[in-house]
Order: sequence, then structure tokens, then C-alpha cells
Amino acid sequence: MIIGSNLFFLENLPSTNTHAADLLKNNDLTEGAIVYTNYQSAGRGQTGNRWESEDGKNLLISIVLFPSMINPADQFLISMTVSLGICDFLKRYIPVCTIKWPNDIYVNNDKIAGILIENSIMGNQIENTIAGIGLNINQDKFLSDATNPVSLSLITGRSYDLTTCLNQLASDLDKRYKQLISENFAQIKHEYVSQLYRLNEWYNFRDMNGIYAGRILSVNDKGKLQIERRAGKISEYYFKEVDFIL
Ligand code: BTN
Repeated sequence: MIIGSNLFFLENLPSTNTHAADLLKNNDLTEGAIVYTNYQSAGRGQTGNRWESEDGKNLLISIVLFPSMINPADQFLISMTVSLGICDFLKRYIPVCTIKWPNDIYVNNDKIAGILIENSIMGNQIENTIAGIGLNINQDKFLSDATNPVSLSLITGRSYDLTTCLNQLASDLDKRYKQLISENFAQIKHEYVSQLYRLNEWYNFRDMNGIYAGRILSVNDKGKLQIERRAGKISEYYFKEVDFIL
């Protein structure tokens, strides 16, 4: 086992990603180490957002990886791998899990998990990766203005033991990471694309030119989302260049 080989728990922290980065500076972490906590006072989301999580209700974890086999240009493979591992875990409990590009984890139209991947790149190598995951397990009320949060417990009406969930998630992520190490890239991309939220169906999207009807076809090797328009034109987007109209 690589992911989950070492577990570091602190009752509360500003942010597990920030704490993992501090430990990494002192070379205190081996590959696969997981830093986790019950509560973050300054949990970080994508694009500077805060990540809401009630004390002791959810999984808040950061995994340290040294993915030297991945060229920095292909770093989206890491996002795909982590997204797939979280979906594998959720499918232990619920039948369907999708990935809203680039890496929000959705159940139906609601967000159950967020991922914050921070890569440190030195020259032509990824020196280390901190993969932060916030996975909502037992929280039943959300107070922030996040659009559509949900938890496993809200979906199934049951509550879950967080230690069991952490061990299962680590094992599912470990299997996916081994797929990445064995350079099974085409398979990872294929499985990622096939689980994309709103794949191949017509929905409205918004880009810098306004709202249009389109359907998601795939992602390219850089992780850009490919959306086809009714007239047949295909546009490619980096993160934040296109919004889903939910
Ligand atoms: C998102 O905006 O969707 C990403 C949210 C990522 C939150 C997790 S919680 C554990 C880790 N530590 C952080 O500060 N953020 C990530």
C-alpha cells in the first residue's frame, strides 16, 4: 500500500493541504502519507474559495505523492486518478457517481466532494503533489453559499463511521494510483471521461461569448474540456473558461 501507508491526524488545523506542505518542507512525509483532521479553520477550495465542513462530520484529507512518472504537461492525469478513486469509494454505497469537469464529484446534480491538487514543479519534473480532498459524509446542514452541497448521509439517510470510510477511500485511491504508476494512462482517461457529469447530452454552457447549447465530448490530453455546439463546432476550454448552467 502506498496511499495510506502513514496517517497523521490532528484534531483541528487551518488546512490539511497547508499543513502537508509545511511537513514536506522538512522532508517529514513519505509518499502516500495522509494528513487529516476533524476541522479546518481555513479550509481551502479551488479559486480561493473556502471549504465548509462541520466539525467531525466529514473527511478532510491531504495525500502526499511523488508522481515522478508524470510529465508536468500531463498533470491532469493526477486529477483524473484522484477523481476516479473517490468515485470508486462512493460506489461502495451508492449506485452512481459522476465527475463534474475538472474534478468536482457529483451525485445527481449535487456536489459531494471537492479536490484541490497542488503540484510543486521543478524544471521538467513534478517534485511533489498534495492532493486535498473534502468529502462530505455525515453533514446534514450546509451554511455557506455553496450552490449545491450534499453528503453521503443526506443521500442515503444513514450515518457512517469516518475511520472506516477513510480506510476504504485510501484503499480505493491506492488502487487508482497504482494504475497511474503502471502508466495505464489511456485506461484512466477512458474511465474518467465515461463518468463525466453531463457527458454527451445537450445542456447550456456559458463562455466569454455568452450562453449556448452544447454537449461534452471528452477532454484533451491537457485536460481541456471539449464541447460540441449544435452547428458542429468544437470548443476547448481550460478551467474557469466555461461554466455549466446548473
Ligand atoms: C473545491 O473547491 O472543490 C476543492 C475543495 C478541497 C477541500 C479540501 S478539504 C482537505 C484539503 N485541505 C484544504 O484546505 N482543502 C482541501
